[in-house]
Amino acid sequence: MMTRPKITVVGAGNVGGTTAQRLAEKDCYDVVLIDIAKGVPQGKALDISQAGPVCGYNSRVVGTNGYEETAGSSIAVITSGMPRKPGMSRDELLATNAKIVKSVVTELVSRSPEIILILVTNPLDAMVHVARMVSGLPKSRIIGMAGVLDSARMRTFIAGELNVPVTDVEAMVLGGHGDTMVPLPRYTTVKGQPVSELMSKEKLDAIVKRTRDGGAEIVGLLKTGSAFYAPSASAVAMVEAIHKDQKQVMPCAVLCEGEYGLKNVIVGVPVKIGRGGAEEIMEYELTSDERAALETSANAVRELCSTVDRLMA
Ligand code: NAI
Ligand code: 2OP
Repeated sequence: MMTRPKITVVGAGNVGGTTAQRLAEKDCYDVVLIDIAKGVPQGKALDISQAGPVCGYNSRVVGTNGYEETAGSSIAVITSGMPRKPGMSRDELLATNAKIVKSVVTELVSRSPEIILILVTNPLDAMVHVARMVSGLPKSRIIGMAGVLDSARMRTFIAGELNVPVTDVEAMVLGGHGDTMVPLPRYTTVKGQPVSELMSKEKLDAIVKRTRDGGAEIVGLLKTGSAFYAPSASAVAMVEAIHKDQKQVMPCAVLCEGEYGLKNVIVGVPVKIGRGGAEEIMEYELTSDERAALETSANAVRELCSTVDRLMA
């Protein structure tokens, strides 16, 4: 059988397990699933493999607690992390996940120097910063997944409101993956028609708010854990854009070095995704209000990153 590109998924929890499943179903990758939990990645990998004969895929899926199997990976999707536990402060969570991301990235890069990293672990923008600091990889190969998910949420809400297919709706959500994210109604269209011409300002404002609160809405419903179907779909869309060299413009968290007037900060912006990873930041024309909102969001990320730097020093 022909060798297939190897994709490593770190963290075999909800997002990681589902990401591995979605990748296997594409029938064009070998998948390595890693977790520190003994037996979990092995069990999930076996289970996903055994769905192959039923679903008609031949993907090789390996579960492991070590990094040997990851050697030669072209992409890693990093979902490993701890959720916030009762009594745990945000800073403690930040420090714990930063340590996890630091060790995972070091292990991955030492075995796959050409790897492209897609970060998923929260707080997302700060984890991209950690990966950048420890990996030494060029900025085009360290990409955070958040904007694809946030935009998908906005597209879903708009399609539901207008009773149109979700695939007819385009949306763009920029900024950090948190309360300050910047949904851009001006760049939201239905088959090319601006959404502002299709619904009232009140309805659109409500959708913008619901998008910002999209992650919390699902946490509130699930009670334990957070969203994973749409997050894994979003990460896999990014893997596909890289592998198929699609040059698709997707909102992703990458290092800005002057684009949008933002210097040396990781934040969600429209990025052309292709074989080289984050190949080019696309500079959309923004109004002064949109620019100010993006700057506010970037400042929130800067604050988080300086906290992470202090905690890890
Ligand atoms: P989960 O708790 O189901 O899975 C996390 C997994 O990471 C666990 O299986 C745990 O054993 C593993 N892990 C912990 N330390 C590890 C290490 N050092 N090496 C390998 N594995 C390790 O959590 P879930 O729902 O899968 O979420 C994962 C992360 O993704 C969380 O930080 C979550 O907040 C984030 N997330 C981010 C999104 C985004 O838009 N960027 C969307 C959804 C989730
Ligand atoms: C979300 O937006 C938890 O960041 C995650 O669903």
